[in-house]
Amino acid sequence: MKIPLIDLKREYQEIKPAINLVVGRVLKGGRFILGSEVKAFELQLARFCDCKYCVGVNSGTDGLILSLKALGIGPGDEVITVANTFSATVASIVHVGARPVLVDINPETYLIDLQKIEPAITKKTRAIIVVHLYGQPVEMGPVLKLARQYSLKVIIDAAQAIGSTYQGQPAGSFGDVSVFSFYPAKNLGAYGDAGAVVTNNRAVARVVRMLRHQGQSRKYHHELVGFNSRLDELQAAILRVKLKKLKTWNKQRRQWAKYYLQQLTGLSLVLPVQPAETQTNWYLFVVRVKKRDQLKRYLAKQGIECGIHYPVPIHLLPAFKNLGYEPGDFPQTEQITEQILSLPMFPQLTKKEIDYICQAIKRFDP
Ligand SMILES: Cc1ncc(COP(=O)(O)O)c(C=O)c1O
Repeated sequence: MKIPLIDLKREYQEIKPAINLVVGRVLKGGRFILGSEVKAFELQLARFCDCKYCVGVNSGTDGLILSLKALGIGPGDEVITVANTFSATVASIVHVGARPVLVDINPETYLIDLQKIEPAITKKTRAIIVVHLYGQPVEMGPVLKLARQYSLKVIIDAAQAIGSTYQGQPAGSFGDVSVFSFYPAKNLGAYGDAGAVVTNNRAVARVVRMLRHQGQSRKYHHELVGFNSRLDELQAAILRVKLKKLKTWNKQRRQWAKYYLQQLTGLSLVLPVQPAETQTNWYLFVVRVKKRDQLKRYLAKQGIECGIHYPVPIHLLPAFKNLGYEPGDFPQTEQITEQILSLPMFPQLTKKEIDYICQAIKRFDP
């Protein structure tokens, strides 16, 4: 068997007629930038996230940068975030001229350690970016309480968390602003780059809307120094088709996660846990294992592709050397980085494939 980490070819086969139809419709219509598809997608996504406003952007990365800018964060400010994340979370802070202040993870959830946020707050702290990594939501209650206490903005990097919930509410409906990525491999993936910013704050939505479109409030009236960060019509049309499938696909992922959990209990692997009141969208199914590299190689030999999210903690990446952190500064992040392994996870997997993966893991387990 050959089992990839994710298989977008299979997904396309499932929705091919609908996708081809809407792509044809956009091509025939001849409008590719900021037309009816983007507008409709924004309305649908805002509804999906139980939020008032949604602004489509070209990527999650730009969504984070534009959100920080719209919240007025820049040079001289500090933004607290987590050492275990994708580089774009931290790069966005650097791009607006602010300073990222990293904190370690909770070793059970692999998410920001809620106890470590408050000690990281200084007079310069303006915001917290929490990351719903692997689709797993951070418990928002304590974060929002701290933010109120210290008058901090809360930005949610929900790049991986479309369809996840906290206390039954969709990821995206908490904090000042939430950012999604529609990178193709995400649960809701475009056929290229795309992202969105959702918020209940009208002013923030207005500024992000201008910033994504060269800072214009109307054509050639540039109020702000803007960017070219628009979501395009083709991607919006594709995302509209896929948004309709998202609940079903996330349900299927949940079923596969449940099956993995059943099959893999009792081994030396540490299985993923979900904190109370949260429901993950199972973007990734991440296990923890001491002999990670050996297991990854062993599974690769059996035709099973796994991933590592992420192999180097933020503070040890050359890009962030200037932040001045050193090995040992975030021990929990450093430890899991050596041990985490993402198993194949996508809705179109089959039971037979998961059985094959689990049997291979059991053969390896000492
Ligand atoms: C946690 C996280 N933040 C930010 C991003 C950036 O999103 P994009 O790739 O759409 O720019 C990603 C995307 O992969 C991500 O996983």
